[in-house]
Amino acid sequence: MTRDPSSTSDRKVYIRTFGCQMNVYDTGKMKAQLARDGYAETEVLDEADLVIVNTCSVREKPELKVHSFLGEARKLKRERRGELTIAVAGCVAQQEGRKLLDRYPDLDLVFGPDAVPRIRQMVAQSLEGRGRAEQILDTDFLDADDYIFSPEIDPAAEARVGGFVTIQKGCDNKCTFCIVPATRGAELSRPSAEIVAEVRALVARGVQEITLLGQNVNSYGLKVPGEKTFAQLLYAVAAVPGVARIRYTTSHPRDMGPDVVQAYRDLPQLTSHLHLPVQSGSDAVLKRMKRFYTRERYLRLVADLRDARPDLVLSTDFIVGFPGETEADIDDTMTLLDAVRFHSSFSFKYSPRPGTPALRLIDRGDEVPPDVAQARLVRLQQRQREISVEENRALEGQTLDVLVEGPSRHDSGVICGRSGTFKTVNFPGGLDLVGQTVPVHILRGFTNSLRGEMVVGR
Ligand code: SAH
Ligand code: SF4
Ligand code: F3S
Repeated sequence: MTRDPSSTSDRKVYIRTFGCQMNVYDTGKMKAQLARDGYAETEVLDEADLVIVNTCSVREKPELKVHSFLGEARKLKRERRGELTIAVAGCVAQQEGRKLLDRYPDLDLVFGPDAVPRIRQMVAQSLEGRGRAEQILDTDFLDADDYIFSPEIDPAAEARVGGFVTIQKGCDNKCTFCIVPATRGAELSRPSAEIVAEVRALVARGVQEITLLGQNVNSYGLKVPGEKTFAQLLYAVAAVPGVARIRYTTSHPRDMGPDVVQAYRDLPQLTSHLHLPVQSGSDAVLKRMKRFYTRERYLRLVADLRDARPDLVLSTDFIVGFPGETEADIDDTMTLLDAVRFHSSFSFKYSPRPGTPALRLIDRGDEVPPDVAQARLVRLQQRQREISVEENRALEGQTLDVLVEGPSRHDSGVICGRSGTFKTVNFPGGLDLVGQTVPVHILRGFTNSLRGEMVVGR
C-alpha cells in the first residue's frame, strides 16, 4: 500500500504503554492530541503510520521491555523502507535521551513526560524532516511557569466507567531507591480549578469513578500559596454532581494528615480502598530508604484510617532485598503484613537504578545476594496470597454494591465490576448493566477476585 504522508485523514497511531497510571494517563493525552491531526488509534502494529512506546524505568525489567519492543517496530520500518515514524516517550526516554537516538539511528523521536503536550508539533516536525534522517529529542523539564497540564480528554473516556485525572506532576521526595524524581522532575501541583474542570468534563462523558493521580498526592498544593490542600481537593471533587466514587494514588504515609483521615468520615464518595505503599516493615530499612516514617507511625495511621472508615481495605507496595536488609528486617516486614492484613500487595526485588542514592549502599558492599532476595520475595508473596484468599473468602455470603465496568476477561456471558472496596467481582449478566451499580451476592472468594450472582428484586 502506498501512503501519502501529507494526507491527514487515514493516519493511524499504535501506542504501547508500560509503567504506572501516569503513563496510561499521558498515553490518553497523546491520543487526544493526535486525533486532532487525524490520527486514529490502532491495536495492530502493522497498520500504524506512527508508533509510540511509552516507557517505564522504575525497575530494570520494565526498562528492558522497551528494547525488545523497539526491535519489532524497527523491523516494520525496514519493511516499509522508512515509511514509519517511531517515537519513544516516558521515563526511559527521559533517562536515556540522546543515548537512545545514538543506539537506534532509525528512531525518529525521543521525548520525556514534560513534552507530552507538544506531541503534535514534534510529530509534524519529524514528518517534515523525513528523508533527511532527522532525529528529534525533547527531554527538557519545564519551569512551573511554563508547564501546561494538557486539558485534552482521552477519546476512550466515552466508553469508560472510570477516568484518571492528574493532580500533580513530578516528585520532590528522594526515596533512595527511586528513579522517578529524575524521570518526572520536580513536583508541580495542577491548579485545582483545572482539576475540577477535567472531572466535570469526564462526568459529562459518563465517567462515574474518578482516580486522582500523583506520585505523592498528599503533598498536593502545599507549595502554592492559596491553593487547596489535598483534603480540600477531595471535598471539591466530591461536590461535582455525578461523581459516584473517588480514588487516588499514590499516597505517601509520611504526608497523610488528619484532614485526609477526616475525609473518610465525611465523604461517602471516597472508596473504602486505599493503596498506601509501606515498602518495608523495618525501621532500619525505612531509614536507609529515606521514607521518613517509622513502622509505628505507619501502623498508627492505619488504625486512624480504620477508625474513620471501619471497612477500609488496604493494599501496599513492598521492596525486598534493599541493600543491607537482614533476616530480622524481613521478619519485621512479615509481621507488618500480618498486623495490617493488606488485601493485596505489589512486591518487588530491589532493582538498582542509575543515579539513585541507594547505589552508594551497594558500593559499600551492602548488596543482598539475588538468591536471598528471591527467597524473601517468595516468602512474602506466599503469605500475601494466603491472606488475600482468607480475606476474600470471608466475603462469601455477603452482598456487595458493584459498579459494572464491562465484560469479564475470561468468560462470555459474565460481566465484571468493582465493589466499594475495589475488589474485582465477576458475575453472569448482560452488557446493558455497564455503568450501573448493582447488588451482587458473593459465592466464592479467590486470591485476586470474587465471583457472585446478581441479587434481583432487592
Ligand atoms: N510514588 C509512589 C511510588 C512510585 S514507584 C510512592 O511513593 O509510593 C511504584 C513502586 O515501585 C514503589 O512503591 C516501589 O515499591 C517500587 N519501586 C520503585 N523503585 C524501585 C526499585 N528501584 N526497585 C524495586 N522496586 C522499586
Ligand atoms: Fe519515588 Fe519516593 Fe517520589 Fe514515590 S515518593 S515517586 S517512591 S521518590
Ligand atoms: Fe515507571 Fe515512570 Fe511511572 S518510571 S512507574 S512510568 S513514573
